[in-house]
Amino acid sequence: MVKICCIGAGYVGGPTMAVIALKCPEIEVAVVDISIPRINAWNSDQLPIYEPGLDDVVKQCRGKNLYFSTDVEKHVSEADIVFVSVNTPTKTQGLGAGKAADLTYWESAARMIADVSKSGKIVVEKSTVPVKTAEAIERILSHNNKGISFQILSNPEFLAEGTAIEDLFKPDRVLIGGRETPEGAKAVKALKDVYAHWVPEDRIICTNLWSAELSKLAANAFLAQRISSVNSISALCEATGADVTQVSHAVGKDTRIGPKFLNASVGFGGSCFQKDILNLVYICECNGLPEVAHYWKQVIEMNDYQKNRFVNRVVSSMFNTVANKKVAILGFAFKKDTGDTRETPAIDVCKGLLGDKANLSIYDPQVSEDQIRKDLSMKKFGWDHPGHLQLLSPSASDIKQLSVVWDAYEATKDAHAICILTEWDEFKKLDYQRIFDNMQKPAFVFDGRNIVDVEKLRKIGFIVYSIGKPLDAWLKDMPASKITIESRVPKFMCGQCTSAIQEY
Ligand code: NAI
Repeated sequence: MVKICCIGAGYVGGPTMAVIALKCPEIEVAVVDISIPRINAWNSDQLPIYEPGLDDVVKQCRGKNLYFSTDVEKHVSEADIVFVSVNTPTKTQGLGAGKAADLTYWESAARMIADVSKSGKIVVEKSTVPVKTAEAIERILSHNNKGISFQILSNPEFLAEGTAIEDLFKPDRVLIGGRETPEGAKAVKALKDVYAHWVPEDRIICTNLWSAELSKLAANAFLAQRISSVNSISALCEATGADVTQVSHAVGKDTRIGPKFLNASVGFGGSCFQKDILNLVYICECNGLPEVAHYWKQVIEMNDYQKNRFVNRVVSSMFNTVANKKVAILGFAFKKDTGDTRETPAIDVCKGLLGDKANLSIYDPQVSEDQIRKDLSMKKFGWDHPGHLQLLSPSASDIKQLSVVWDAYEATKDAHAICILTEWDEFKKLDYQRIFDNMQKPAFVFDGRNIVDVEKLRKIGFIVYSIGKPLDAWLKDMPASKITIESRVPKFMCGQCTSAIQEY
């Protein structure tokens, strides 16, 4: 029986290994993590992450050929194939701080593999890592020279949160990079055989190590670039009377471009896009390619601009002040169908509004109050450094301007404005007449995800701002000012919330 061990039971390690276990009943899969609460949750009825379809897959395999454990060393030493799916956050200190990937977690996993192994293994980079990481990992693995041979493969993950199970069942492609040696080819084949249980062969792409590592960074950069591109056009739409939905539909009909990832919004979030692009920028700089670095940096700058623009639109529309006004925030997760809030645009928007002294009432169907307060208290990049939670002082738990409620109607009651920051389906189906009746007047809706029926809401009486759509007559007279979120934020929060770029 082949044994697989995955180090890191997170958003990637957990679902990926559950699907491998489901599709390969003859393979024993152990998912290990240093976090005891996380492993306990994987072994309970309340899984640590929300992902449609995940419960079902885990229930089918857990205890049969899928195990979650904190006994990292035992499972690693017994495995034939070790996936490493630990977090690879942005460095917060030292050389490359704010851009380079922090490989501390990866390095400690690699050292541990080297220390506990008694037999040869295939070590698979599942985490997103800088190109050429495999070279460093090879050196770490051989430092304990016990005559054990390790083969490193790069097998980046392309799943998207919210559709992880669907993506894993039917991936567009699986990418495996390996050394171009007979041993490397053998290792590539062994991993290919695992995926071949359910992925058609023509969707399994085999490349050299560096191409696989770089493809993941490039893919995320391209995806984020599409969002920043359409968001830049949304600003021009508002200035000219064009409608970004119509423009992106027309643009996306071109088969060379395609329709996906062309929705204008308040900005992209998630744990990967910003981190991976910053990493790409850093690698370009280190390789003497400042023009290339500058080009990709723009994708993040445009994303920051879009979040700033949104906050400014809210404040300027409401007579240039939101001080002491109740603003309902609908949605905090970085996208629908996930409870993940890492780098969610809601953090920056909320900090911007809090900085202008708004009273926020936040509702998200999947995000807890604890998480929201933690996110609004955290220092930039602190979120992905477990163990050293970098909290601001005073923390958002002390902010009286903040309440977190468990119902959209409660959040919007007596509010002056609503900001929709996540595209949860339930926000499309709300009774907006009821909401309008219970709000202060004039009642504003700022739709950061373009999900509401603008005409219908205007008929009810709302003043509606929807990104990239022709402006309400009211809003036309109140052009968004050029103030940045950062300048709105009070001193105790200052410098923590906005552009990654501004800080470097
Ligand atoms: P995560 O933070 O949810 O999970 C990482 C886990 O690794 C944590 O539970 C942590 O406790 C554990 N860990 C860290 N060091 C460890 C060690 N030495 N031994 C055992 N466990 C250790 O991260 P997530 O989101 O699963 O991401 C993992 C990697 O996959 C990152 O490199 C990320 O960029 C990449 N990725 C993430 C995607 C996503 O949608 N979240 C999609 C594709 C790739």
